[in-house]
Amino acid sequence: MTRTISRAVVIGSGTMGSGIAAHFANAGIPVYLLDIIEPPLDKIKKHTPAPFFTADAASLVTAGKLDEHEAWIGEGDWIIEAIVENMDAKRELVARIDRLRKPDSVVSSNTSGLPISQIAANASADFKRHFIGTHFFNPPRYMKLLEVIPTRDTAPEITQFVRDFAEQRLGKGVVLCKDTPNFIANRLASVGGASITDFALANDYTVEEVDAIAGPLIGRPKTAAFRLQDLVGLDVAFAVASNLYDLIEGDESREVLRSPRLENLRKTQIEKGRLGDKTKQGFYKKDGKVIQSLDFKTGEYRERQEPQIASLAEASKIRKLGERVRFVLAQDDKAGALARHIIYNALGYASRRVPEISDDLVSIDRAVRWGFSHDRGPFELWDAIGVRATIDSVDAAPWVREMLDAGNETFYRDGSVYDPLKKTYVAIPKDPRQISLKECPVVEENESASLRDLGDGVLCLEFHTKMNTIDDGLRAMIDAGVDELERGDWKGLVIGNEGADFCIGANLKGDLSTGGPDGVRKAVKSLQDALQRVRFCAKPIVAAPFARTLAGGCEITLACARVVAAGETYIGLVEVGVGLIPGAGGCKEMIRRVVSPAMKKTPNADPLPFVQNVMQTIGTARVSSSAAEAKTLGYLSESDLIVMNRDHLLYEAKQDVLEMHAAGYTAPANGDTCYAAGRDVRAAVKAGIYVLQQGGYISEYDAYISGRLAYVICGGDLSSGEWVSERYMLDLERDVFVEVAHQPKTVERIQFMMKTGKPLRN
Ligand code: NAI
Repeated sequence: MTRTISRAVVIGSGTMGSGIAAHFANAGIPVYLLDIIEPPLDKIKKHTPAPFFTADAASLVTAGKLDEHEAWIGEGDWIIEAIVENMDAKRELVARIDRLRKPDSVVSSNTSGLPISQIAANASADFKRHFIGTHFFNPPRYMKLLEVIPTRDTAPEITQFVRDFAEQRLGKGVVLCKDTPNFIANRLASVGGASITDFALANDYTVEEVDAIAGPLIGRPKTAAFRLQDLVGLDVAFAVASNLYDLIEGDESREVLRSPRLENLRKTQIEKGRLGDKTKQGFYKKDGKVIQSLDFKTGEYRERQEPQIASLAEASKIRKLGERVRFVLAQDDKAGALARHIIYNALGYASRRVPEISDDLVSIDRAVRWGFSHDRGPFELWDAIGVRATIDSVDAAPWVREMLDAGNETFYRDGSVYDPLKKTYVAIPKDPRQISLKECPVVEENESASLRDLGDGVLCLEFHTKMNTIDDGLRAMIDAGVDELERGDWKGLVIGNEGADFCIGANLKGDLSTGGPDGVRKAVKSLQDALQRVRFCAKPIVAAPFARTLAGGCEITLACARVVAAGETYIGLVEVGVGLIPGAGGCKEMIRRVVSPAMKKTPNADPLPFVQNVMQTIGTARVSSSAAEAKTLGYLSESDLIVMNRDHLLYEAKQDVLEMHAAGYTAPANGDTCYAAGRDVRAAVKAGIYVLQQGGYISEYDAYISGRLAYVICGGDLSSGEWVSERYMLDLERDVFVEVAHQPKTVERIQFMMKTGKPLRN
């Protein structure tokens, strides 16, 4: 039987329940949200970061009080319990669900660390077979990790189903866990976090010093140690730590959770209401625009003190993580001492928790990477700094020495991983929906981009410039990709990559600041031409955008036959932010996608509202907050696909190419596809711009740029509405782009953006 989830029921509408309900709705599943109180759905819709992709998704959630609507439980194919972290309350609710659920429905409990099997201890045998633990991380939409905890009674079919569903439909990275206290990620983080704070207090570190060392320097996120604690909340961290202490009697490291220094600090901080971000003060305190830091000596807040550790600057210049961490570990200063404490303890502790919390190293590494955004999990990091080189500094589990004694130098080797129980390497199971580009042969490459063979006759154009900005090399490789596609025996091409962002636009340092008007014109023309070749290629070209897909990155996407976008795609034509307009087909495509269809359907329609729509999207540099929202903005088409799991993106894009090929793809007709609305409509648009400027909503220069944008969008000097060719629109775009690119205020905006990463409103 193929199990489907047509309706989910989430019980508990607090932080986690509301986020989980929203994310099921993002996946297109109708949800009943229940609580003992009336779930505050209107408030939930306004949470930041946004739990819902779109207002449409939010409309899939129906909220009600549990006592009034308990029968809803009987309609759920999956019932998710996410109420308070209290065993008695959860057990009572389980009894109720057991009574009301329909046969064969899945039930899961979301808990930070309560034993899953005990939650269902008194339930019926059938309930137990369908019951499983799910530990989402907060916020559920954005955090990749989902720990899934089957009990001894959970049917294997249910575990498999929950895993597949979570990976494919919810886009999560699933790690199967044993039913041990705090599972994997929080177990390691609770002990690790306590040990950092304890060491800092014992050795006179400042808050700033710790965060400068415990962050990106050693491959961890910017939130490092204390910023992370402020985010989590001191009360929560405290509750988790003290809960954990009692549950892990046999854990040789548990005493650090109750270190007197730590308890003292927690007690005073909690007494003073300094719980972190939620009380606006914790280890840091925001005072207007100034961020103050807690002084451990005085217990009061003071101005920020820059860490005075000479090796920090030098270390941060080393790009490769393994090399950088080795350098920091070797320093005879405060950075070296703290890094040694953090890293050696983390590696040792992780090794000593095998097989207690997991039999396999991959699960532990993934839990740490996906749950806490570390660049590498403990065993991956250990490989990078050298296992044998550091073994004498680490209180490692005996199996690690055994591994070395047998001549095995690393935990990972050629796609396999060391199995501490089998004492040999085993293959890491491959997700058939995941393509790893580095395993795909290179067909052609330059400094900026590569063409790779994805197999089955599909090519991939991969960008790899810094932040995937567009430069000469990248433009050349787009052309090379189309050449190869036309010449070779290929079925189609995917434009995609594995960077942090799909593409953030043109490299502003390159063409714009050095090229002069002729250089700019040439660069824009060459991207326009390359993208028109993409658009009219006889073989299907599919873009696979994700994360930031801005300006030129958006234009590349718009040129493709179809888009397979990650759920989390932030796409937009943001050129006006730096005093430019889209120059490589962005304006043309928005007319073709928003204005043209309306005018085709109703030839005598008034184009003004559609033109205004485009003006507003481009003129306010609107970026979508999800791929689903990008469809409402016109950046993506209804027929474009949305893939929830970014790891599956290249695979799904490749499948799309193959399907289009099999269906006999042909290039679109290159006719007069753009409806240019003409001078009268432009006059109306300009009147609106004037009102905005007079009202003080936009600057004089914003109004000028908007005016030039309106000129392009309405087809230049055409006296009345007319169908024009794409070439006509592209020529207009290019002329105006070159004209505004050298205005002093645009130059100022570009320079400001390059210096600060933020737009300047001049
Ligand atoms: P919360 O305190 O924000 O929300 C709990 C909600 O449950 C409240 O709205 C409350 O009215 C409701 N509730 C309490 N008893 C109920 C009952 N008997 N029937 C129906 N509703 C009831 O809690 P939060 O943070 O959402 O946590 C929920 C669960 O998820 C807990 O077990 C927690 O340990 C776990 N968790 C929390 C994470 C977090 O970061 N907040 C992360 C991962 C797991």
